[in-house]
Amino acid sequence: MTVESPIEKAIRPSVGLLGWYSVCASKLLKENELYHLSMFNEPLVIYRDKNNKPRCIKDSCPHRSASFRGGENENGEIVCPYHGGRFTTSCNQDGSDRITCKHIIDSHYDNFANHLHLRQYPCVEQGDYIYIYYTGEAQPSPNDFQIKSHLENSLPEAYGFDLKDYEYEEVFIDFKCDWSRIIENHLDILHIFWLHGNTLPGNDVNRKTIKSFNQSINKDQYHLRSVYHEKENNKEEFISQIFIPPGRVIIFKGATEQARYVQVLDHIPLSHNRARIIVRHYRKFLRNKLLCKLLLFKQRQQKVFYKIFSEDYLVLQTQTFNEQMGYLNQGQTKLLAEDKMINLFWDWHQHSLEKEHPWDIHPTTAHTNTIHQDMLMLYPPANPQLSHDIKRIIDRKVAVRLFSIILIILALIFAPDLVQQIKSGNVSMPMVGTQE
Ligand code: FES
Ligand SMILES: [Fe+2]
Repeated sequence: MTVESPIEKAIRPSVGLLGWYSVCASKLLKENELYHLSMFNEPLVIYRDKNNKPRCIKDSCPHRSASFRGGENENGEIVCPYHGGRFTTSCNQDGSDRITCKHIIDSHYDNFANHLHLRQYPCVEQGDYIYIYYTGEAQPSPNDFQIKSHLENSLPEAYGFDLKDYEYEEVFIDFKCDWSRIIENHLDILHIFWLHGNTLPGNDVNRKTIKSFNQSINKDQYHLRSVYHEKENNKEEFISQIFIPPGRVIIFKGATEQARYVQVLDHIPLSHNRARIIVRHYRKFLRNKLLCKLLLFKQRQQKVFYKIFSEDYLVLQTQTFNEQMGYLNQGQTKLLAEDKMINLFWDWHQHSLEKEHPWDIHPTTAHTNTIHQDMLMLYPPANPQLSHDIKRIIDRKVAVRLFSIILIILALIFAPDLVQQIKSGNVSMPMVGTQE
């Protein structure tokens, strides 16, 4: 195990567990819908207001604290399911940007309604992501926040990565385990060879090729970064990982400027023992949409992701238990040289927990109703329905493609003249399925 000097440890990212989190793909947040999630046990709702601006509110109505689950988003106005309180955004002359009740029950309450405001967190849209600035204390207006960390530092572009050159596929996964165990998993290069060695396509990463690496670490107030080189070929970067607090990990395969692929992994601490990950896998060749569609590339890749995450799941759940039992203490574990990033992450995480206490802001007990948290578990990796759905889609599409190929071959064999005429444009084909 490599032991860090106290001076090295002193340089740790200054952004702690409270700050900007990517919580949702931008295109998933549709008009007239409500998207529920939670952060550090606090239930939240994200939606688009009447100006199409994303909003993040505390999921508690200011009348009698009903959740907005079962409520509506009508053209950007949010309606409480309990007594029909209707809330709309209003930018005021004093600079506040409130979401105020414009009607409840009948006109007798108009004056009362004016004093009901939803509580919000700053929420922005950038690079096809929705980000929220989470502090644990929602306010009547996003302008009430003093934003201490800057979103720009967590964007892939800040690391020389040009999104325009790449296209991506994406999956969401919900784990019942500690949030920080998942980040640790994504900073662990060696387990990819062993735990996922039989699942990954390609011959260069599997159980037979597992190896140790030379590693260089770079860190500053914004990030922790590790570059791994193969020992025999120290010039070529095998992989580089960047942890950008609080919840983003970016992994480059090969040197960052010419990476074969890039993964952006966002980790959302939903509640105790529950976390969501958004995985984006960027590649250049995905920009060829026709080829990807023909080869069903995105669906196949999603299938691989679900398999990989179900392989991680048992480890992460049992490791969470062991951590809660105190077995993951530094004194009880012996790290390898390649675990240096994990060691730095632990150091950052522990420091932030002690400084910000994010889990104590909305504490739960063994008696707390878990309804919100249970409903949020939409994408468990072990859910057979998810992989079953993808398999069904792939099977159906493969069948359509095979059928089309057979039709073309039959046409070439039995009606070559007709095919020739179609190619030369001398035959007018009837339009199938069109209506006058
Ligand atoms: S609790 Fe929402 S309108 Fe009454
Ligand atoms: Fe993994």
